[in-house]
Amino acid sequence: MTFHEPFYDALKPSGSLVINIKDKVVDGVRHRYVWRMIERLSDKGWLCIDDYIWHKPNPMPGYWPTRLRDGWEYCFHLAKSTRPYFNADAVRKPVGDWVESRLKNLGNNDLSRHNSANASGFGLNISKWVGKNTVLPSNVLSLALVGKNKGHPAVFLVDLPMFFIKLLSPPNGLVVDPFGGSGTTGIAALVAERNCVLIDNNHEYCCAAHQRLLIEAGASPATEMLQETLYGRAEMVKHLVVKETDAIQTNNRKGQRPDVDNP
Ligand SMILES: C[S@@+](CC[C@H](N)C(=O)[O-])C[C@H]1O[C@@H](n2cnc3c(N)ncnc32)[C@H](O)[C@@H]1O
Repeated sequence: MTFHEPFYDALKPSGSLVINIKDKVVDGVRHRYVWRMIERLSDKGWLCIDDYIWHKPNPMPGYWPTRLRDGWEYCFHLAKSTRPYFNADAVRKPVGDWVESRLKNLGNNDLSRHNSANASGFGLNISKWVGKNTVLPSNVLSLALVGKNKGHPAVFLVDLPMFFIKLLSPPNGLVVDPFGGSGTTGIAALVAERNCVLIDNNHEYCCAAHQRLLIEAGASPATEMLQETLYGRAEMVKHLVVKETDAIQTNNRKGQRPDVDNP
């Protein structure tokens, strides 16, 4: 429970912390350390803005006597303020084929807001979709696993961090991943034109991430891999992969640490 403290200290009021995590099964029982962690973080001042679900349409195959295939993980959105940076337009998605066929046959009920036939109170004015090409996504993200190793056993897909980076950090903002692994968050950050700091306590993973940033994200040769301690928390941050940016260089020159927009 110490990882969050340097983030809380460094985070701007407009910044966000996103935690992608899943409860393990221990002795046949779904452990609840994730729920406990979120409660502890709330007690320590973090605001739980929303819970996202990463839905995996293609979960790992397998058989378990009391459970089905694991098809989702949590992504918790935490912040220091109730109004963190939030650009919903940056994650709009195509409205979908259903709209075209549905809008061809609008009835009277479709032209004004009305309650559904089962009186659930759920009103819908379908005509508002006319002329719309995009729609805001929900907080359930359906993203299929890609199954590439990249020199690390637990690589997630670029689209997952990309979604949160676009939604929660401004262009040219700073993205920090304290459990950087193969550098997937860094790829997303650089492609989305944000700056990034990746941290991992495994030297081999840092090397793999560094290579990936150079090859897959076109990072400049100025991208550096540093082996030093960030903010003096040696237990968490023994190795860093840093994309040097003007902002970071300027802060470093002044002997300051960079402000964090979105870890
Ligand atoms: C689940 S993996 C992250 C994988 C990453 N999302 C990717 O796509 O490659 C978690 C990473 O956290 C690192 N890690 C675990 N404990 C750590 C700690 N205390 N400090 C820094 N890194 C740590 C591990 O070495 C591992 O690479």
